[in-house]
Amino acid sequence: MDSLLSITDIKDDVSYILDLACKIKAGEMEEKPLEGKTLAMIFQKSSTRTRVSFDVGMYQLGGRAIFLSSNDLQMGRGEPIYDTAKVLSRFVDGIMIRAIKHEDVVELAEHAEVPVISGLTDLEHPCQALADVLTIKEHFGSFENKKICFVGDGNNVCNSLLLIAPLLGMDMSVACPKGYEPSEEILKTALEYAKENNTEIVVSDDIGVALENVDVVYTDVWVSMGDEAEAKQRKLDFAPFQVNSDLMSLANEGAIFMHCLPAVRGQEVTSEVIDGPQSVIFDEAENRMHAQKAVLYYFMKD
Ligand code: CP
Ligand code: NVA
Repeated sequence: MDSLLSITDIKDDVSYILDLACKIKAGEMEEKPLEGKTLAMIFQKSSTRTRVSFDVGMYQLGGRAIFLSSNDLQMGRGEPIYDTAKVLSRFVDGIMIRAIKHEDVVELAEHAEVPVISGLTDLEHPCQALADVLTIKEHFGSFENKKICFVGDGNNVCNSLLLIAPLLGMDMSVACPKGYEPSEEILKTALEYAKENNTEIVVSDDIGVALENVDVVYTDVWVSMGDEAEAKQRKLDFAPFQVNSDLMSLANEGAIFMHCLPAVRGQEVTSEVIDGPQSVIFDEAENRMHAQKAVLYYFMKD
């Protein structure tokens, strides 16, 4: 069964899904393609955008979604992932899961008999990356000669962007302090994609190097869900990587600012930047729904 746990799962179909998302957003899609279908949504972590956009997205496609907090599920009391996968597969047509551990989602997908879509794990956030590139495409018209720089923590959001950027022909850099680099495994795959697509990937702790010729400056929180115990140290380590007007001035003229949200104003980004004219954060948030409707259609339509 096909699932979306990583951008690598849709390696050859990213452009197709994006085109689908554009059509869906433009209203050029058949009415209610997922009529009668149900999506189970398991959340082991908090969410605003993912929960609401999947719920509304399913509704708009003619189906419905069921919110399942892991606190209330038997899984939260120790029911095996295997049994949960088998049982849910008898009731629903797809499972969306936001999980603490990526391995748990891999296990769920292995045993589910319906598609499993990741709504974030500690390793990746593929639906976010799809919404992000949709936003970039809309803003600039194409990905040609575009470069994105992720500033801060080499986290789940950064990992998915590293995989998707080369697949669309974009260059990418990551500006992060030593010790906070993206996943080695992901970087290895991203470098392979970059080679295949003739694009460049640079990871550096030198902001000046990473910000060379950049069209998109992207950041995310310094303390992701699950990293709270390291908050104090992280705030010290990431301080020089705050996205402020000085840092934005290193990017190309016409560069945009992106953030997956939720954001902490005054930490990873100043109010001046996130609420300023270069920021496209709310278009980006809206695009979660359009991109995910394309994902739901792609994975769940008969
Ligand atoms: N960006 C994102 O996934 O937001 P939520 O945590 O609110 O779902
Ligand atoms: N990196 C953040 C993303 C939140 C959408 C986290 O994992 O908490």
